[in-house]
Amino acid sequence: MGYTIAQKIIKNHLVCGEMTVGSDIGLKIDQTLTQDATGTMAYIEYEAMGIPRVKTEKSVAYIDHNTLQTGFENADDHRFIQSVCKKHGIYFSRPGNGICHQVHLERFGKPGKTLIGSDSHTPTGGGIGMLAIGAGGLDVAVAMGGGAYYITMPKMVRVNLTGKLSPWVSAKDIILAVLRVMSVKGGVGKIVEYGGEGVATLTVPERATITNMGAELGATTSVFPSDETTRKFLKAQGREEDYTELKADDDAVYDEVIEINLSELEPLAACPHSPDNVKPIKELEGKKIDQVCIGSCTNSSYLDLMRVAHILKGKKVADNVSLAIAPGSKQVFNMLALNGALGDMIAAGARILESACGPCIGMGQSPNSGGISLRTFNRNFEGRSGTADGQIYLVSPETAAVSAINGVFTDPRCLGAAAEIEMPEKFLINDNMVIDPAPVEEMDSVEILRGPNIKSYPETHPLTDSIEASCSLKVGDNITTDHIMPAGAKILPLRSNIPKISEHCFTVCDKEFPTRAKTLGKSIIVGGENYGQGSSREHAALAPLFLGVKAVLVKSFARIHKSNLINAGILPLTFVNAEDYDKIKLGDMLELPNVKDEIANGKQVTVVNKTTGDTIVADCELSDRTRNIIIAGGLLDYTKENS
Ligand code: F3S
Repeated sequence: MGYTIAQKIIKNHLVCGEMTVGSDIGLKIDQTLTQDATGTMAYIEYEAMGIPRVKTEKSVAYIDHNTLQTGFENADDHRFIQSVCKKHGIYFSRPGNGICHQVHLERFGKPGKTLIGSDSHTPTGGGIGMLAIGAGGLDVAVAMGGGAYYITMPKMVRVNLTGKLSPWVSAKDIILAVLRVMSVKGGVGKIVEYGGEGVATLTVPERATITNMGAELGATTSVFPSDETTRKFLKAQGREEDYTELKADDDAVYDEVIEINLSELEPLAACPHSPDNVKPIKELEGKKIDQVCIGSCTNSSYLDLMRVAHILKGKKVADNVSLAIAPGSKQVFNMLALNGALGDMIAAGARILESACGPCIGMGQSPNSGGISLRTFNRNFEGRSGTADGQIYLVSPETAAVSAINGVFTDPRCLGAAAEIEMPEKFLINDNMVIDPAPVEEMDSVEILRGPNIKSYPETHPLTDSIEASCSLKVGDNITTDHIMPAGAKILPLRSNIPKISEHCFTVCDKEFPTRAKTLGKSIIVGGENYGQGSSREHAALAPLFLGVKAVLVKSFARIHKSNLINAGILPLTFVNAEDYDKIKLGDMLELPNVKDEIANGKQVTVVNKTTGDTIVADCELSDRTRNIIIAGGLLDYTKENS
């Protein structure tokens, strides 16, 4: 039996475990990336491990999230990361150099390699044939220290692409079509692999748009073959030597096959407030809009923005629309500036933002109250834009640009003949905003610059024999990491300051939660299905840890958040009977009388509701390794114990 692309990469990097679906496997990691919002903590954790030099082939720290410097905090964080990078052997991509996934694709990604990143859209690297997985900051720290990265061996899904996209239908419409079929939960425990004759019709950045939003499927990752198109892209980036061919064997076996005929696709939009709430643009046409934002790690490539410039050229942005455009990288920005496309955008009335995440994480450009904002981004969860009742629609750059001109939802196919925009044969290469690490012999003299906003990792404790704690919060289904740990310009600068950032934990759902949890000292959170979906932000586990949360008892977990809870030493429990969710209410006193013994022996966990007298049984699905992590009090303690 042959192998899929992902299975081939896994096989080449397997350090332990069996490649059978559901088994815990350890992978050797070739590359890591961090962004600043999660990176500061990842480097605090890396330092705490005491390993002098990273052991990966390439590790890169990007500054793209908290680039607004309204106080000293972000600037201090950047300086701290820069000094850690210099000392410990990590490349540092300065603020302004671009969004991590875009720059990584351009300058560092290599087919066939493994990459983990402390950002949930790390699977973007699958566009160039990498096995690229979003992970917690602590996982990245461990991988930089040479440790393996552990996942559950996923199922394999093949998305078979046939036909060819019609003019003005784009890669964004492909992934929205996949989301419509699979839903935001459909990829959990799976790797989505693209194949079929349609693959050859897509450029590397288009493939990366698709793998980027594989994160919205909940998939472990997504991957494209590495082929002639990949070689040409790498050659144009001046790194043809990084190319290797990668394709699935003809007799590879997939657990699921989805057929997408590109010729039949039409422009689509993900409507508020979920990326899988997909409708054809045709159904929305004529609806008035207030804002358009073009950019993000999903759609900010050179090709994307050249198409936008082509649409805007000689036109004017509608009076009722604010159009903001953020090129994905310095490379893209510089090329647009030199070839005149930037001038076309400015002349049309676009507001040009720096090459960073910006509005994607609510860093500026929040829409007006109740405002309709069309965005080329990947997420439209409630409140993420910074405006609680903002109505965010996710669309392609083409739909966004033409709608900005018309002031209403517009199907870009009204533009007629397709724009003839080719991939450049040579990109503009200028890496002067990437700072190399110090040579090994000079590393000892590099001083780590630590400002007052850099606080240490929260206190952890090994698992106790029993736990007695109140239910400090009860929430419903599909709680996202944005609910747990909101982002936004006021909160993000506190990422390296857990005591302060914890004051915002869950305040979207319940303003009193942080104070209540702290007063209780020890507590348990109860939730519904798909708890923790969304981003990889480990602060959604670290803030509860700081507030004394000992366990989270839910109907089901999103993958990355569950492992972040384990890494933080918080018990991830699931109801054996989902109806037992109704047997606990806020404030009930819960007891886990034999929890340590039950966890150590792989048994179900007994939860006694001392307020009502009910006994509830919970599963705690752990591998041998994650069981030991929980018992040790989290991954940091486990790594210290085992290094
Ligand atoms: Fe940045 Fe948004 Fe991507 S926050 S990394 S642009 S999902």
